[in-house]
Amino acid sequence: MRYVFITGTSRGLGHALLDIFKEDRIISISRSEVETDVELFKTFHVDFLDEQALEEAVPEIFSCIQPEKGDEIFLINNAGAVNPVKSIANIDAKGFLDNYKINVLAPALLMKGFVDAFGELQATKRILTVSSGAALNPMEGWAAYCSSKAAVNMVSDVLRLEMDRLDYPILSATYRPGVIDTDMQGEIRSADPEDFPDISKFKDYKSSNRLYPAETVAYVAKRVLTSDNFGFSESYSVSDFL
Ligand SMILES: NC(=O)c1ccc[n+]([C@@H]2O[C@H](COP(=O)([O-])OP(=O)(O)OC[C@H]3O[C@@H](n4cnc5c(N)ncnc54)[C@H](OP(=O)(O)O)[C@@H]3O)[C@@H](O)[C@H]2O)c1
Repeated sequence: MRYVFITGTSRGLGHALLDIFKEDRIISISRSEVETDVELFKTFHVDFLDEQALEEAVPEIFSCIQPEKGDEIFLINNAGAVNPVKSIANIDAKGFLDNYKINVLAPALLMKGFVDAFGELQATKRILTVSSGAALNPMEGWAAYCSSKAAVNMVSDVLRLEMDRLDYPILSATYRPGVIDTDMQGEIRSADPEDFPDISKFKDYKSSNRLYPAETVAYVAKRVLTSDNFGFSESYSVSDFL
């Protein structure tokens, strides 16, 4: 049996992942309602901006399955936010904090919950955290987003080290999904050019049809996560597969 926990399933890449993993038992974790024909094994609703609610929900989320020896358990930390797309001078504390709650704290708490629940289990246990090229390349106007994705990469990397001690380690890696045709790109294109000088580049990606469909990126994510080599590398990029 394969169990797949996926965050941010209401739209974008997370929604596309539902279809890709439809043969498996999906545990959907989202803030908004999820409209899908895919049968969901369990659904949870939690707003990652409410860290207390998330911390309380995490043990319940991971105890909703009773995996057995030999099962496969995956967690895909997909939910994310790009805003605020503003120059550092124009971001306030709440702007930084809200972004970090969604992009860093929530995946970190979910990783912790996964370790607490399944650390000792003799099973295939894998965590894929959706990161971004922005973790590696600074972009004007993206201080919160770039730094949050760099931070979550490091949480995943530290987990890799800590797993070396376990008999049945949890494998963890990050995934750079390229530029995907989702609402997030719409938000990027609607930023103020004063704050985001590279906006024309992103408008060009859209007008010249160079955005990856979410379905393609989801398909590659599954290839990465189910590969025999998963975890050999700390990070994967969609561009390595397309
Ligand atoms: N799109 C790109 O070009 C691109 C590029 C590189 C990396 N990524 C990464 O890929 C992942 C998916 O992005 P996407 O393009 O699919 O974005 P998207 O279409 O904007 O969807 C974002 C998802 O995250 C959820 N989310 C946002 N705020 C949340 C909160 N406070 N609590 C719980 N869930 C929340 C949203 O739920 P609601 O519907 O409730 O808002 C939605 O399901 C993200 O980690 C993103 O950083 C995207």
